[in-house]
Amino acid sequence: MKIISVVGARPQFIKAYAVSNELRKEHDEILVHTGQHYDEEMSDVFFEELDIPRPDHNLGVGSGSHATQTAEMMIGLEELVHRHEPDVMLCYGDTNSTLATGVVGSKEDVTLAHVEAGLRSFNREMPEEVNRVLTDHAADILFAPSERAMNHLESEGIDEYAYNAGDVMYDALLSVREKAVAQSDVLEELNLWDDPYILATVHRPRNTDNSERLETILETLAADERRVILPAHPRTVNRLEQHGLLDAIEEEATLIDPVGYLDFIKLQANADVIVTDSGGIQKEAFFLDVPCVTLREETEWPETVESGGNVLVGANQEAIQDALTNLSHSTSDAEPYGDGNAAREIRGVLEGYDK
Ligand code: UD1
Ligand code: UDP
Repeated sequence: MKIISVVGARPQFIKAYAVSNELRKEHDEILVHTGQHYDEEMSDVFFEELDIPRPDHNLGVGSGSHATQTAEMMIGLEELVHRHEPDVMLCYGDTNSTLATGVVGSKEDVTLAHVEAGLRSFNREMPEEVNRVLTDHAADILFAPSERAMNHLESEGIDEYAYNAGDVMYDALLSVREKAVAQSDVLEELNLWDDPYILATVHRPRNTDNSERLETILETLAADERRVILPAHPRTVNRLEQHGLLDAIEEEATLIDPVGYLDFIKLQANADVIVTDSGGIQKEAFFLDVPCVTLREETEWPETVESGGNVLVGANQEAIQDALTNLSHSTSDAEPYGDGNAAREIRGVLEGYDK
């Protein structure tokens, strides 16, 4: 089988880490990086420290409006499909790189596969929700990470070729966890000894682009007596500058550049609590059994909330404070996202697919 896999944003490199190596055991994979993320610490670091195959092509699309970014990716991807004539196009998650692959793949003579299908936040104001719904409806094969995601696909009438493969990020975490704990020096570098700390990330436009929400979140974190470690996404740093909040937060929290996956796993595993609006981090907190406080009103990973280990607080000061004080741990043994063999499952389904 010849497969074009498309990645572009940070979490997709981690997903490809789990899946590309599995596909390459038997198949010819062409890895395409759209260039959506391009800073060293948002992209190269993952290829360097994880055993991810180097992209065969980088479209170099960079940042831009949704339409500009998606359209440029589509032009580049279409050209590569014509050049390589793959059997399968595979995309991950819910970014603009995902949607571009979905639109191109659905109009070409390829089997389009979507990994992380069926997730729904039911909030159409999030660009990710639009991307995931449209890509699911364009794809031929849907790999859902959970039973609930399967149910969403069923209720939308697109479950004929849907499979509950489990979550590929669980595969990735299981495979690097020991290495991260053994090799990462991040705790020493940040002088994080035995004192409890809060690990925070904020990157969703709803939180970063609204100065009131961003200020409330950061001030509430800063008021906590624990140290706050904030590896900041470039979007967040840009907005902190624009809103005039950068100097204040640098005084009150340890604001650092984004870190590599091994360092981030170690930071998560040792945190007293994780505060985030990230999708992937909510899940990693769940897998690592670290309490999570989610800066959103809804989540596409509701199983983490049902487990008791994740609380949705939006940008509400009292709700954040309450969740930081009364840390809630998961009380469930359920494994809603599979057993860490999602990549193998995906390879098997692709090999057996014959529409
Ligand atoms: C994107 C995804 C989001 C995902 C996130 C993962 C979309 C619509 N959003 O959001 O679902 O959770 O990636 O991190 O696809 N920038 C840099 N350097 C970089 C990358 C970005 O400076 O390497 C800055 C640019 O100013 C850019 C901004 O960050 O305009 C936002 O980047 P973009 O890729 O458009 O969206 P993300 O917020 O990263
Ligand atoms: N991550 C990382 N370094 C960081 C922040 C996050 O390696 O400084 C990893 C994290 O472990 C997770 C993924 O990036 O696997 C989450 O990406 P992000 O929050 O950007 O996107 P989302 O999951 O919300 O789409």
